Amino acid sequence: MEYSEKVMDHFMNPRNMGTIENASGVGRVGNAKCGDIMQVYLKIEDEKIVDAKFKTFGCGAAIATSSMATELVKGKTIQEALQVTNKAVMEALDGLPPVKVHCSLLAEEALNAALWDYAKKNNIVINGLKEPVKDIEEHCHI
Ligand code: FES
Repeated sequence: MEYSEKVMDHFMNPRNMGTIENASGVGRVGNAKCGDIMQVYLKIEDEKIVDAKFKTFGCGAAIATSSMATELVKGKTIQEALQVTNKAVMEALDGLPPVKVHCSLLAEEALNAALWDYAKKNNIVINGLKEPVKDIEEHCHI
């Protein structure tokens, strides 16, 4: 399996790994295909994502995509962050091997779930945001 240099770099030196205390939104999702878990934390101020962190119980491709996804959303508005799809993240990483594409979905879904959490907490509607499809059970801690 061939990984791009960027994937290797983000896997070996992941950006934004960790948690954010009192995060504005937290999203936690599980990957139906492999059972891996991802959690994304966002700090949002004035509709802008000022910080993003992630924690994952997942493979190298999941780590690399979350690292890149959190880098891409930092400093963006919520609407701009919605454009950070798994496709955009994969492009930024110069691609992923086809069998690993499902791993990149974890980052997109966790990001989406974190925005959903933020919207729910603040009683707002974010245009274009879809209700998270997969939510894993409460007893699953990472
Ligand atoms: Fe599970 Fe990659 S194999 S996220």
